[in-house]
Amino acid sequence: MKITTTTVPALTAGGDTVVVGVFEDEAVSHDLLDGGLQALLDRGEAKTKFKHLALTHAGELRVLLLGLGERERFDAERARVAAATAYVRALELDAKRLVWEVPHGLNDTTVGGLVEGTLLRAYKFDAYRSPAAPTAPALSELTLSAHHDLAAVAQIAAVIARAQNRVRDLVNRPANDLTPALLAAYATEVAERHPAVSISVLTEQQLGSLGMGAFAAVAKGSEEAAQLIHLSYNGAGAAAPLLALVGKGITFDTGGLWLKPPLKMHEMISDMAGGAAVIEAVATLAELHIPVNVIGVVGAAENMISGHASRPGDIVTALDGTTVELLNSDAEGRLVLGDCITYALREGALAVVDIATLTGGAVTALGSAHAALFANDEALAATLQQSAARSGEALWRMPLHEKYAQMVKGRVAQITNLTERREAQACTAAEFLHHFAGDTPWAHLDIAGTAWDVRNAYIADKGATGFGLRLLVDVATSMALWS
Ligand code: BES
Ligand code: MN
Ligand code: ZN
Repeated sequence: MKITTTTVPALTAGGDTVVVGVFEDEAVSHDLLDGGLQALLDRGEAKTKFKHLALTHAGELRVLLLGLGERERFDAERARVAAATAYVRALELDAKRLVWEVPHGLNDTTVGGLVEGTLLRAYKFDAYRSPAAPTAPALSELTLSAHHDLAAVAQIAAVIARAQNRVRDLVNRPANDLTPALLAAYATEVAERHPAVSISVLTEQQLGSLGMGAFAAVAKGSEEAAQLIHLSYNGAGAAAPLLALVGKGITFDTGGLWLKPPLKMHEMISDMAGGAAVIEAVATLAELHIPVNVIGVVGAAENMISGHASRPGDIVTALDGTTVELLNSDAEGRLVLGDCITYALREGALAVVDIATLTGGAVTALGSAHAALFANDEALAATLQQSAARSGEALWRMPLHEKYAQMVKGRVAQITNLTERREAQACTAAEFLHHFAGDTPWAHLDIAGTAWDVRNAYIADKGATGFGLRLLVDVATSMALWS
């Protein structure tokens, strides 16, 4: 879908369908039908209630009158929903070229939401359909028509939404077609496309010799070699502070010897969703030339069963020297992330944000409405909350606490990945990671509930949601403003 902007009035902007939004207690600002649109509202055939749709025509042209609700409540998130609502109706009407008459007085973030909502709603994962299969109908063009020039705003929003859709493609790719090595190859292509991005990939052998015993313990049950993917984006001078984004990149999680029940095991292709968000966030920052320095560290491995798999009871030494009692082979994410966090700190990160499909506990607590946010630093937590509000990727703050830290103390080693009681699993997993982050400002996003099968107005395709991309890009962008 092409995204274009124009200052030509919507009626003559070249579309076959025009969306005109109207706020509650406001009149239609440009009546394309010479009073006809307002008349529809006055008769009650069209309504200003949020998401209400009415169809009429101006000659050959279709006009969708879309209720936008109260102006004060119309933010970027509502814009995404409104755009998706209009998009769905437009497709039903066989539209090819849709023009949005952008309402007066919207800020740039909200306007961006119109583009994001359309592109995200239009996403369909069809990479594995046969070429002969009929493709779903799609819009060929979305045009924003406004009095002022929206080219830059629309372009930025399109870059972000397309990146989120690429995260979805990565997450939807099955584990046989997205091994750790293939994920690393993908990240290498990202780096090759952007001059400001460089990459180094540590192989499983190097992980071992560096002393990443926790990460290696997860990887060794698989035939597929683990990879530590280290992207670095240099968008600011050498003196600027370094932000690390750390992602869980388990390309498949069988649970290991604590084998998962088979019914939903296939969904564990999504266990690299955090890693995918990190890779594409770095790509997006580079594409938008955001003046910030960021490293993306992704621990990519498969959690499998074999004669080489870790046994419950094994004790390993993590990169920072911590001894870890591996009691639960299905609590693998924290082992990989712990070593990746240490790695990021050694690279000089002054703040770390990790993102991971880490625990079923986060799903139980928050469902798909929020990802869980844990943080050891109030300023970083506030930044994340603000980014969540702007990006529409909602977070709910959850507690770190000494009591949860106690629960991951080991019986024979320093820490363990199995708590005695099956409770507070998102919180104890967070404390496990906290052990490695220490006092460096660090935030942990548990996206187990938001990365897969969410389905809202604008995330409709079954499977991967691409959660986290918009959030991470916003966080890194707001850090650029700090320095
Ligand atoms: N990848 C899973 C978490 C997960 C669960 C993600 C559901 C998406 C949906 C993780 O590796 C895992 O297995 N966690 C265990 C930890 C437990 C054994 C302490 C869990 O949450 O059950
Ligand atoms: Mn697991
Ligand atoms: Zn996992």
